Amino acid sequence: MRLGVFVQAPGHHVGGWRHPDAVTTGWPNLGLMQHIANTAERAKFDMFFLGDGFATGYGEHPSTIGKFEPLTLLAALAMTTSKLGLAATGSTTYGEPYHLARAFASLDHISGGRAGWNVVTTAYSKSSAVFGRQHPPHAERYAMAEEFVEACRLLWDTWDDDAFIGDKQAGKFVKPGSLHVPDFHGKYFTVVGGLNVPRAPQGHPVLIQAGSSGPGQALAARIADVVFTAQNDLDEALAFYKALKAQVADFGRKPDEVLVMPGVMPVVGRTEAEAQATFAELNACIDTAQAFTVLSERLGMDMRPYPMEGPVPTPPETEHLKSRSMLLMEMARRDRLTLRELYYRVAAARGHLLLVGTPVRIADVIERWFEAGAADGFNVMPPFFPGQFDAFADQVVPILQERGVFRRDYAGKTLRDHLGLQRR
Ligand SMILES: Cc1cc2nc3c(=O)[nH]c(=O)nc-3n(C[C@H](O)[C@H](O)[C@H](O)COP(=O)(O)O)c2cc1C
Repeated sequence: MRLGVFVQAPGHHVGGWRHPDAVTTGWPNLGLMQHIANTAERAKFDMFFLGDGFATGYGEHPSTIGKFEPLTLLAALAMTTSKLGLAATGSTTYGEPYHLARAFASLDHISGGRAGWNVVTTAYSKSSAVFGRQHPPHAERYAMAEEFVEACRLLWDTWDDDAFIGDKQAGKFVKPGSLHVPDFHGKYFTVVGGLNVPRAPQGHPVLIQAGSSGPGQALAARIADVVFTAQNDLDEALAFYKALKAQVADFGRKPDEVLVMPGVMPVVGRTEAEAQATFAELNACIDTAQAFTVLSERLGMDMRPYPMEGPVPTPPETEHLKSRSMLLMEMARRDRLTLRELYYRVAAARGHLLLVGTPVRIADVIERWFEAGAADGFNVMPPFFPGQFDAFADQVVPILQERGVFRRDYAGKTLRDHLGLQRR
């Protein structure tokens, strides 16, 4: 089993930052980030993952308002960790292949081969304003992403692994014939010229993809090493897993070359009652405006005008997070949820698997999904930091290690080693 920690400093539960045990001072808090990374490495996690977006404002979820630029932070964490994978989101809609390729290759060098890139098309149209651009429609964002990744791969292959010889005698800094200049001409991106960073320790950083719509899955099946997804029902997660792996094979790749890692929010308590009490405290901390922002954005429709005790109204098809809107509506229909019940589920885990309970109960469900073949690993999303992540690392992980489903120690050095993936 693989484990990643999805880090957003205020926690993933909308009320997480207001929980008495959550850290909310010293923003953005490097010490807190270092603590989380050290905890993850101590528990032998595969990776530390940072999401990213561009909007800010009073009504936004605290995780998006005030934070570090992800790659800058990961470079700092590379200095205080030695084995932990370091992954971050990079936008293919609001980025440039040259800049992103160079930044991730540099992080891979700085970290000794631990870099991962979550290839994201940035779903939210509100992001376009800070770039003074029109937000492209869903299908076009994915067409751009396909080109973006292709251009980055060419850039990472600019130099051979052994190009930089620094031969003072011969006066040759680089080996003749070791340069391969990209000459890429796409509909959205053109890259003519090479990357001025030597080829990275992993060759290419680990590529992650987090979109689950048709175009999202197709992109993932073609380029991803890891697929993040939101799932909350074992049968649906199994169906997603099988469909994704089948598409991987259709692209001529081995299904084992791509790891599927759903998100999971564990709310850990030493007793069932303690876990339920913590969950109740979190729900009591919810800021209604923030919770409605999170809910309405994921459904693609403003839910505030509708009666909370009524059924969930059906939103129109969205150009934002297509698969998430469908996932939430399926959950609402399947579990016959009122709008209020969906509101609380989304405020907690945004449609991801939510596990409230003792360490043994949480380990049981995680192990069941893994053994059933619905996941190759999990992206752990604590409701708040650091307490609930420390509890997962110190109380749940030892059970998974005891049962032989999670590593007791790292076998390799690079993120690809941890994930059992070939160097590119
Ligand atoms: C674990 C996970 C992490 C994600 N991180 C980000 C992120 O950092 N930034 C972002 O804009 N979208 C992020 N997304 C959203 C996806 O990129 C994508 O927009 C969403 O899953 C909907 O994709 P679809 O339209 O292909 O269904 C994330 C999704 C998941 C499941």
